[in-house]
Amino acid sequence: MLRCAILVSGRGSNMEAILKAKASGDLPIEVAVVATDRPGAPAITIARRYGVNTFEPSPEQAGDKRTFFSILTQKLQELDVDLIVLAGFMRILPPDFLARYPERIINIHPSLLPAFPGLKAQRQALEYGVRFTGCTVHFVDEGVDSGPIIDQRVVPVYPDDTEESLAARILVEEHRLLPACIRLFAEGRLRIEGRRVRILPPTETR
Ligand code: GRF
Repeated sequence: MLRCAILVSGRGSNMEAILKAKASGDLPIEVAVVATDRPGAPAITIARRYGVNTFEPSPEQAGDKRTFFSILTQKLQELDVDLIVLAGFMRILPPDFLARYPERIINIHPSLLPAFPGLKAQRQALEYGVRFTGCTVHFVDEGVDSGPIIDQRVVPVYPDDTEESLAARILVEEHRLLPACIRLFAEGRLRIEGRRVRILPPTETR
C-alpha cells in the first residue's frame, strides 16, 4: 500500500479529512507519519488521537531550516515514504528535498491556481472581486504554488462574504478534493505530461 507522509504547520483540518477518509476505508494508503515544523501545532494533537505516528522536532531543530529538513529527510527515508502531502505546511521546500521526491509531493491551495498563489489566497480573491474562487491540488515544483494541477473545485464568492466566510466555504471543498486526489495517486491514475496532469480511467491502471 502507498506510504504517505503528511506535513502540517497548524490547524490540521485537511490532515484530518485524510485520516477520516482512511478510517472509513475510502483511501488505500498507509499514513507513515504526520510531521510538523511547528512544535505544538494543533494538527499533531489530532493526529495522535487517530493513533498516527507523529514527528515533531524540538523548537531549536524546527527553528533552523537546514537542520529541520535534514532530520525530516532522514525520517522520511527511514519510513520509506512514497508520497508527501503538504496539508497546510507553511515552508518552502529546499531544492535538494524536492529533488529527492520528484513528482511525489502534492499540495493543497485555497484558490483556483494560477490565480492568487502565496499567502492569504482567500483575501486576495475578495480584494480582486472575483465571483468564483475555489481550491487546487497540485504537484509541487520549485516555484510557489506553481506545479502541474491535479484537480480543482469551484466555490462562489458572495457580496457579503468576509475572509472567514469565504475560507470556510472553500474548506468544505478542500476536505473532499485532497483525499480524492490522494486516492487517484494511490491508484496510479495520474500521469504528468508537461504542465498537464492526465487522470486515467480506473480500467487503464493495471
Ligand atoms: C488550507 O486552507 C490549505 O489550503 C492551505 O492552508 C490551509 C490549511 O488548513 N494550504 P488546515 O491546517 O488543513 O486546517
